Amino acid sequence: MNDTEHPAPEAEAPAAPAPEASAVERVARLATLFTPWALRTAVTLRLFDLIEEGNHRPDELAARSGADPGALQRLLRYLADLDVLARTGDTYRLTPLGQVLTSRHPSRTARFLDQDDAWARTGDRAVPGLLHAVRTGGPAWERHHGLPFWASLDGDTALGEAFDRAMAVHADGFGPWLAGAWDWSSVTRVADIGGGTGTTLVTLLEHHPHLRGVLVDLPRTVERATREIAAAGPGVVSRAEMVGRSFFEPLPPGAGAYLLAHVLHDWPDRECVRVLRGCAGAAGGRGRVLVVDRIRADTGDAAAGPLAVGRRDLAMLVLLGGRERTEEEFRALGEAAGLRLTATTPAPEPGLHLIEFAPAD
Ligand SMILES: C[S@@+](CC[C@H](N)C(=O)[O-])C[C@H]1O[C@@H](n2cnc3c(N)ncnc32)[C@H](O)[C@@H]1O
Repeated sequence: MNDTEHPAPEAEAPAAPAPEASAVERVARLATLFTPWALRTAVTLRLFDLIEEGNHRPDELAARSGADPGALQRLLRYLADLDVLARTGDTYRLTPLGQVLTSRHPSRTARFLDQDDAWARTGDRAVPGLLHAVRTGGPAWERHHGLPFWASLDGDTALGEAFDRAMAVHADGFGPWLAGAWDWSSVTRVADIGGGTGTTLVTLLEHHPHLRGVLVDLPRTVERATREIAAAGPGVVSRAEMVGRSFFEPLPPGAGAYLLAHVLHDWPDRECVRVLRGCAGAAGGRGRVLVVDRIRADTGDAAAGPLAVGRRDLAMLVLLGGRERTEEEFRALGEAAGLRLTATTPAPEPGLHLIEFAPAD
């Protein structure tokens, strides 16, 4: 302990308690659209990166970001009110919250706010469709963008690539955990169903040299996965197979484990049961089906990350008509597909779990 941080009580008059924000003000803070857009604007202008690089004055930041100096000054003040920047006189520096918004932060949060990124921009434009989604119970994406979600990605190369890159950011986060979260020595072949561009499969094959893998995804994604996996080097390529096909069609048989990572939450129950049944059939009597998804806790248990899961639940509703599910809901999906839920293992990410299924009999 040091005296500067902890002055003796008699050395200073007790600070007056900060006035509590009124309920009206707290609701106004929750409701304003300016906070999410101020953060997106600042990330897109690279303000957090520019400050980190040593540009602290508004005129420097305006010149380097190409923004109007007067308007930028007003944005900077709002960002300081939000505590993502700290203002001293007329200079700005990053607070711990602001550091999260730099592009080199390991969370890569900035990428999901950057309006120059086709996925971030297009996904954000669908969010006002929440009203439609709640009224109808179905996704809002098509109403806003003219095509169903996966068809939009197929029809727009830049959007499809940006989406696949965003998924690879997630996969980078959970892949190493998954490689140690299950007994991969018990199988010789894994099928990654809806495996994206192969980030997870590459991680599994790198961690487990005895393992062979097959990735199933839509043809446009498999084309990109083939390039990504080639970059992983011959030791991995020779053990990986790619199948460009819908997972609603018959799946490659005979793998010891069928992995569905962040797939079931994209779909309503009926489609989930179809995919799970396809995996169960291809796995035969002994194979396992491994689901990586968030488990929604209805208990309000903070450790299970209810807010993190809740906002993704709404995202799945708006984008795809999918949902985050409770453990009981996963169990019921498994039972409808002839599978028994045998174990759940939490990941470091709030709410994320490995959910293991075995054949029901
Ligand atoms: C949310 S991403 C998850 C990707 C990857 N498993 C991960 O965890 O990062 C869902 C994946 O499902 C794929 N997908 C969607 N519909 C599909 C279908 N009918 N057949 C095969 N793959 C599909 C998408 O292309 C995408 O790669």
